[in-house]
Amino acid sequence: MAIKVHQVKSSRLSGIDFNNLPFGKICSDHMFEMNYIDGKWQEGEIRPLQNFSIHPANLTLHYGQSIFEGMKASILKDGTPLLFRLDKHVERMNASAERMCMPAVPGDIFCEAIETLVDLDRDWIPPTNGSALYIRPYMFATDEFIGVRPSETYKFVIFTCPVGPYYTKPVSLLAADKYVRATNGGVGEAKTAGNYAASLYPAKEAKEKGYDQVMWMDPFEFKYIQEVGTMNIFFVMAGKVYTPNLNGTILKGITRDSVIHILKDEGYEVIEAPLSKEQILEAHRNGELQEVFGSGTAAVISHVNKIAFGETIINLNSEEFKIGPFLKSYIEGLRSGVREDKFNWTHKVRTLELAV
Ligand code: COI
Repeated sequence: MAIKVHQVKSSRLSGIDFNNLPFGKICSDHMFEMNYIDGKWQEGEIRPLQNFSIHPANLTLHYGQSIFEGMKASILKDGTPLLFRLDKHVERMNASAERMCMPAVPGDIFCEAIETLVDLDRDWIPPTNGSALYIRPYMFATDEFIGVRPSETYKFVIFTCPVGPYYTKPVSLLAADKYVRATNGGVGEAKTAGNYAASLYPAKEAKEKGYDQVMWMDPFEFKYIQEVGTMNIFFVMAGKVYTPNLNGTILKGITRDSVIHILKDEGYEVIEAPLSKEQILEAHRNGELQEVFGSGTAAVISHVNKIAFGETIINLNSEEFKIGPFLKSYIEGLRSGVREDKFNWTHKVRTLELAV
């Protein structure tokens, strides 16, 4: 069944400069909204982007029962919008929902909502390489109740933002040695708001010391690398590519998964295993540490030019990286349609009939 659409009377698009798109500050014209009431999802609607009215006792505001996703739409030369790994994002959102005691969103409704929204706001997709329409689906508890229990009602929302690069230059990382992001049995694998809230104070301290981001370490010995919070992390050492294995404490990055597939297909050895600070420092001492880069939907592939493990600093010349730039251009090539999609990761958005 087609999704009911209330279109804007007049688009804000003419006031937007596609050559100046700070990440996450500009929203397109429409949003999708669907409520979960009485144990089931009600009919969703697309409407002009607008504020919510929130009760002071809203459960999310107090206990953080909230999850989100981030994916991107690009546009082909012929004007067709393209989605990247839509099925994986739906799967991960519903895995986060399960961990946070929230209802799954039926995959067909999720996909139709995204396709309809992107189709409707297709003119908001920036055509330039490195830019995209960032799609933000999220769900939050809407019960009005002061008490710790899962909500009985929820709101599922999708809105979109034309964006440029998340990081505009190589990033510097400070390895955590005091604060932790996630521990075994926690919610590190879920894309839930609290993981990001918990990272703010350590990130502020890292910024004060001159670093862009915290590189999270294991919570017991601060010995094994986890992730960066905005991205998963890869190290190239003596020609082999290493990334921490998925052990429940790190996000199951979809770009991480794409990177692993692309590299294996290109003949690289990719090792997913616990990765210790000593391994990195030793490779650096031996001259074998060649590249460090992060992967994420927002970050795409972002090069790392400095890592501090306490007083020990590793400087890297990202100008000399080979694998990171190759991956970045590979993923951008898939998004712009100039590279063959041999993995079947892209999905062309159909022009849908609108129920207005
Ligand atoms: C994404 O990469 O889409 C994320 O959700 C990370 C966030 C820091 C923007």
